[in-house]
Amino acid sequence: MPTPLPPDWNDRLAIDRAHVWHPFTQMQIHEADPPVPVVGGEGSDLLLANGERVLDGISSWWTCLHGHGHPRLVSALERQAAKLDHAMFAGFTHEPALELVARLRPKLPANLTRAFFSDDGSTAVEVALKMAFQAQLQRGERGRDRFGALRGGYHGDTLGAVGVGELENFMTGLFRPLLLACERLDVPEDPRRELHPDLAGWPERLEAARQGLLAFFTSHGERLAAFIAEPLIQCAGGMRMWPPELLQELRAQCDAHGVYLILDEVATGFGRTGTFLACEQTGVAPDLLCLSKGLTGGTLPLSMTWATEAIYGHFWGEPTSGRAFLHGHSYTANATACAVACASLALFDDEPVLANAVALGGAMQQAFTTLATHPAVRQARVLGTIGACRLVDPATGLAHEPRARFGWRLHRRALDHGLLVRPIGDCLYLMPPLGTPPARIREAAETLVQLLSE
Ligand SMILES: Cc1ncc(COP(=O)(O)O)c(C=O)c1O
Repeated sequence: MPTPLPPDWNDRLAIDRAHVWHPFTQMQIHEADPPVPVVGGEGSDLLLANGERVLDGISSWWTCLHGHGHPRLVSALERQAAKLDHAMFAGFTHEPALELVARLRPKLPANLTRAFFSDDGSTAVEVALKMAFQAQLQRGERGRDRFGALRGGYHGDTLGAVGVGELENFMTGLFRPLLLACERLDVPEDPRRELHPDLAGWPERLEAARQGLLAFFTSHGERLAAFIAEPLIQCAGGMRMWPPELLQELRAQCDAHGVYLILDEVATGFGRTGTFLACEQTGVAPDLLCLSKGLTGGTLPLSMTWATEAIYGHFWGEPTSGRAFLHGHSYTANATACAVACASLALFDDEPVLANAVALGGAMQQAFTTLATHPAVRQARVLGTIGACRLVDPATGLAHEPRARFGWRLHRRALDHGLLVRPIGDCLYLMPPLGTPPARIREAAETLVQLLSE
């Protein structure tokens, strides 16, 4: 049983019940299970109002990189907010934005030379899509009025981003009449990431997928402004780890057909896959790169879309040429968020953040090896610090009926045992802050094994 809340939370939850609309939530569920009041964050833990602490096993939607309330991030935030909290970024510039660009650029593929700021992952994607479309027009390419994307992808919730997300799932299907034209490419999951892989027939399946990719570009290549993909792993799509060879082929086909390649590293960036960016592991450099989430270490919303000099060049012109990129947000390049992002990047330089991520990856391999022994677990797999598996009903070997709300119930039960997990469909995963001690991951795996056995 959860520890009861202090009485003052009854009034606060009444406000929530009366007036608040939570994200990604059928609000009726909160009649039985009210939202969990959280009052603090400390390292890898969230502190709940009932006095309990839970391991933030999903980094609060993959944002929190160095742990909650990291002193260097907090002090950067306080110092910058006191000096210059925010200033409009059209016609002005400021030190935190420039320091951020200077710190980040050497860590990115060398062809990415131009940074455009926005607020969150979805807007970073919107910017990339609009930039790609406008750049194609302004380099004289007419008729490129569609995008390419991977089936099962997720790029955010604004309409442009929804349009290049997975069309078949419930979120996208509803909005179909409003969306961009998008052609979708299937890629297989990569069994080599699995802890107990069945590689029979894999070379043939990989080759068939490559042929499918070639055929896709033969059919659609001349109509695409850009192709967008999450490199190596489709996170919200259910931690689908896909083959690096296909990303390399995607790059080659984009080049061959004059299509810009947008890599969405909103979730995968900043060490999550064991390298600073996931695309480093494939040698692929995109034309446009989307970053957010871990950019500020998970403290404040901020995002960036990085572009090549060639793309930037297509927007260059006389003030009245009509070639400018007319896009921006009130909080573009928020100075406080930029300062926190600088502090987060400084940690990568001053502390063994990536080495810790590799150690965390080792712990994740062990944790999912433990989990894989449970009869409810299939397809345990790991990429860098991200561990995932598929949950089935051990009696049938099939996925749980959606009606059973197994994932939601596991989420709530795990909270009572000091662990925040939030399965996506039948995918159970862990993606904790990079500095989480390996012993905590072992404990998390033991907790999950216990809960799956109940
Ligand atoms: C790959 C990817 N792109 C874009 C987004 C959207 O980011 P935001 O929720 O900050 O708008 C997400 C969010 O999970 C994501 O995983």
